[in-house]
Amino acid sequence: MKGIILVGGEGTRLRPLTCNTPKPMVPVLNRPFLEHMIEHLSSHGIDDIILTLCYLPDHIQSHFGDGSKFGVKLTYIVEESPLGTAGAVKNIEDMLDDPIFVFNGDIFTELDLTEMLSLHYKRGAKVTIALTPVNDPTIYGLVETDRDGRVRRFIEKPSWDAVTTNMINAGSYILEREVLEYIPPSSYFTFERGLFPGLLKMGEAVYGYPSNTYWIDIGTPERYMKLHHDLMLGGAFREGVRDKLNIHPTAEINGPVALGKDCVIGPGVLIMGPTVIGDGCRIEEGSVIEGAILWRNVHIGNRVVLKNCIIADNTIAGDGCGIDDGSIIGENVIIGNGNKLARGIRVWPEKRLEAETISF
Ligand code: GDD
Ligand code: MG
Repeated sequence: MKGIILVGGEGTRLRPLTCNTPKPMVPVLNRPFLEHMIEHLSSHGIDDIILTLCYLPDHIQSHFGDGSKFGVKLTYIVEESPLGTAGAVKNIEDMLDDPIFVFNGDIFTELDLTEMLSLHYKRGAKVTIALTPVNDPTIYGLVETDRDGRVRRFIEKPSWDAVTTNMINAGSYILEREVLEYIPPSSYFTFERGLFPGLLKMGEAVYGYPSNTYWIDIGTPERYMKLHHDLMLGGAFREGVRDKLNIHPTAEINGPVALGKDCVIGPGVLIMGPTVIGDGCRIEEGSVIEGAILWRNVHIGNRVVLKNCIIADNTIAGDGCGIDDGSIIGENVIIGNGNKLARGIRVWPEKRLEAETISF
């Protein structure tokens, strides 16, 4: 079956992580997020996948190629300027047959797409929207349904006074090709503010498919971090250490830790899970890491303390640094010796924090 993944967004809320890396390439447990998503789709027989790209498309294309390494066929469509979620699908109308599966490209979920499709047919729906319960519907698309599951209202990013349910659009749709007629060609148009409210007004058969399965949108640093914690503390995560060769005998690793290839862990280092350390990282003597996500080739000096922070590729933290809860450091940053970054600080790529010489 065919599926479309919408991956054209700029990932602004994940900055600085997405300054040089498109959201789908952000690593989750040391693999690009999109690899996890493609695996999920292909496990439900969706193995002919069209990626609609706009922001940093080359990064995605060069990693995934024709998809054969990942057991799927991939086709790339690059938008010159963003067409919006629905415009992106209209743009490739000629390539599509019924039913059309469409996915937001930033959702980690175990949604049962096979069951969703059979319900779509059973109800004779024109559109089926997957639904998931959340605590705060105001940051998503609120979807109100009646007893039969038919959608009554769709309000994107509602204010609290408009909140009548905790069920939201989970970002997976099945569409019948005929509804694409309502999307204007070659213009910016979205499902959320354009097509869905429009179809409801016309009384078209739009149904919800509610599910309580695991679901998270990785579009903010807090949720990106939460996904890692959920995956690693959820029980399914076992041995994440890929290469024990360079772990010093006096280093201690406690709890779930995913350690990539070619890492060097120095004497007396303490790593507490859930923590992810990407390929090629180097952690020097006496450093303490708790609940952090390190991408590739990160160099942590002596006696550094990292807590619940995210550090992107090739960044260097000098001796005695401290990086606290919720801080996010972009790629190729140099943090001089002894710097203390308090909670929630975001450092943009290539930045140099103070001039003190760094010696390892
Ligand atoms: N090709 C293309 N072109 N893709 C786009 C464009 C575009 O112009 N704009 C956004 N996208 C992609 C993004 O890359 C992302 O994968 C997806 O569409 C959704 O965009 P987000 O920016 O992540 O939207 P959101 O998270 O605020 O809200 C959406 O997702 C929620 C669930 O997480 C909406 O669909 C909400 O209704 C929904 O509840
Ligand atoms: Mg999103």
